[in-house]
Amino acid sequence: MSSFDLFQPSEQARVAEAFERVLRGETLKDVETVFVAKDGREIPVSGTVNSQMKEGGPFATRGIYRDITARKAVERFRSEFFHQVNHELRNPLTLIVGVLRIMTDQSDKVHPDHRRWLGMMERNANHLQKMIEDLLELTRTETGKLAVHPQPADIAALAGQIAGDFQSAAEAKRIALKTRIPPGLPPAHADPLRFRQILGNLIDNALKFTPEGGEIKVSVSRPASETDSLQTSVSDTGLGIAEKDLPRLFEHLYQASSNFESRRKGLGLGLYICKTLVSRQGGRIWVESVLGKGSAFHFTLPVSLLAASGLPQGGKQGR
Ligand SMILES: Nc1ncnc2c1ncn2[C@@H]1O[C@H](COP(=O)(O)OP(=O)(O)OP(=O)(O)O)[C@@H](O)[C@H]1O
Ligand SMILES: [Mg+2]
Repeated sequence: MSSFDLFQPSEQARVAEAFERVLRGETLKDVETVFVAKDGREIPVSGTVNSQMKEGGPFATRGIYRDITARKAVERFRSEFFHQVNHELRNPLTLIVGVLRIMTDQSDKVHPDHRRWLGMMERNANHLQKMIEDLLELTRTETGKLAVHPQPADIAALAGQIAGDFQSAAEAKRIALKTRIPPGLPPAHADPLRFRQILGNLIDNALKFTPEGGEIKVSVSRPASETDSLQTSVSDTGLGIAEKDLPRLFEHLYQASSNFESRRKGLGLGLYICKTLVSRQGGRIWVESVLGKGSAFHFTLPVSLLAASGLPQGGKQGR
């Protein structure tokens, strides 16, 4: 029996090629392959392979492998889950939301009670749609499939637009939504769609955790201490967050115990997605909060070097 018999037959050509590289002195890390046990069972493994050299030539090769059956099962489950959610939940819901929108547009033709019910259905369907999108984003994050396309983006203008989109929701809750965005800020190196998603999540939270009569402020600035970054902040005069909750706030599915009443209206994914998106764009995100007084969430994104260089920029703005 040669050591090649350990590997699944379909893997043997790849293994032979890997051995060639190892014999030339390379160390291969995180190599994934499939072993065949004596009873014929296939075992997915991951490991490091290298060779020990003596007098300039290979003397022995060594492979240390770990059984990754459990990890593979989780990956398979994630991928199936993603597929299921996409087809079984998202697609029909998109249809429902579309039809509801058409019906709401024609709601002057229906009885006032029905109009109220239509509004209720649309709000709930939208909420369900957001939760499904967040679940899909979580799966994309964990499978490394979260797409981010940074480009020179005028995030100051975008922030103004995004805050404007939330104005009617703020008015409905009698919350003053203000912006502080000075003119002349440079473009950031950021994905405009993802910027919208991050800021949208933060404003959505601020609205959710600020009682009627409160105030929310959205600002963009170029911090004096970090001039190669732009800082976007959302501050509110809401419930605030207890100190003990702060360190875990950006973990997925974490919801602060102090906001028990409002936390049921979500999954606890928004901040985790924000954190992933900000760090994928080279920035950082953090929070300052005092329980009972309010919170301020801040995130940075790098200033676009391309825009500063005066070179042609390519890419689309305001996607
Ligand atoms: N502006 C805020 N004021 C007070 N608490 C907040 C604020 N933003 C977030 N939190 C706390 O952080 C938790 C996590 O926020 P996150 O956005 O991740 O989840 P969520 O809003 O509860 O649900 P989802 O975003 O998935 O709809 C919230 O449940 C809440 O306890
Ligand atoms: Mg949220």
